[in-house]
Amino acid sequence: MKIAIRWHRFCYRSLLNLCAPLKKFTGRIAKLNQTSSNLELVENLEHILSTIRHEVANSINSLKITLDVLRENFDLFDDAKKKDYLKRGTKLVARQQELVNAMKAYSRFNVKEKEDIQFFHFWKSFLAAAATKLKDKNIKFVQEREPEPFLIKANNMALNKVMMNLLDNAMQAVEAVKDPQIELRFELKNDFVSIMLKDNGCGIKKNDISKAFIPLFTTKPGKMGMGLPIARKLLVKMEGRIEIESPLEDGTEVRVWLRIADGHEKEVGYHT
Ligand SMILES: Nc1ncnc2c1ncn2[C@@H]1O[C@H](COP(=O)(O)OP(=O)(O)O)[C@@H](O)[C@H]1O
Ligand SMILES: [Mg+2]
Repeated sequence: MKIAIRWHRFCYRSLLNLCAPLKKFTGRIAKLNQTSSNLELVENLEHILSTIRHEVANSINSLKITLDVLRENFDLFDDAKKKDYLKRGTKLVARQQELVNAMKAYSRFNVKEKEDIQFFHFWKSFLAAAATKLKDKNIKFVQEREPEPFLIKANNMALNKVMMNLLDNAMQAVEAVKDPQIELRFELKNDFVSIMLKDNGCGIKKNDISKAFIPLFTTKPGKMGMGLPIARKLLVKMEGRIEIESPLEDGTEVRVWLRIADGHEKEVGYHT
C-alpha cells in the first residue's frame, strides 16, 4: 500500500517536473513566450507523449512481426535469410535506442557554470568553425565584422552547442536551395546582445512553427527533434532567450539573446 502511494506521488511529481520546462518552450509563432496558456501546456505534453507512444509502438510492432516470421519459418529459411531477419530486428532496436539517446541528450547538455565571457573570443572561434562547415557544403556565408571587446553572461561550451544546433538546422534547410546562403550577425541593444542566424532555406510551415521547440518534433526523416529544445533549455539557463521566425518562402531567421555583463551595457544599433 505504502509503495503504491509512493509510486503515485512519484508519478505525480514526475508529471509536474515534465510540465515545468514545458512552460518555457511553448510559445506563439515559436517565439519565447512565458505567458503560454494551460491549454498549450496540455497540448504540448500530449504531443510529446503521442510521439513517444507512436515511435515505441511502431518499432515494437515491427519487431514482433519480424520475430514471428523468423520463428514460424526457422526451418524453412536458409542462413542468409535468417541473418537478414536478425539484421532487421537489430535495426528496429537501434531506432528505439536512438529515441532513448535523444531523451537522454536533453538532460545531458547543461550549463555547468555561468560566467562572464568575452564575446569577441566566442564570435571569432564560432565564425571560423561555421566558415569551415559552410565551405565544405558550398554555402555562401555572409558574416559580421569583428566586434569590439565586451563581456556577456554565458557559458562557452553551452553557447557553442546552441549555435551549432542552429547552424546545423540552417544548413539542413538550405540543402535543396539553388544559391544557399547563411547570414550571421550580431546587434547590441541595451543590456543584451542578439545573435541573428538567417538562412534562405525551405522555411517552416505555419502549422509547424509553434511545435518547433517541442522535444521530439521533427519534419526531417531520421532526425530526432532535440536541437531547438536543447538550445532553448541552455539559453534559459544562461538567462537568455531564443526567437524563431519564418516568413513564408523566405527562409528562417533565428535570434538568440544573451545578457551583457554588468558595466558593459551598450546602446549601439545593428552591426552590418
Ligand atoms: N532553419 C530552419 N529552417 C527550416 N526548418 C527549421 C529550421 N530550424 C528548425 N526547423 C524546424 O524545426 C524542427 C525542429 O528542429 P530541431 O529541434 O533542431 O530538430 P531536428 O533538426 O532534429 O528536426 C525541424 O525538424 C524543422 O522542421
Ligand atoms: Mg536540428
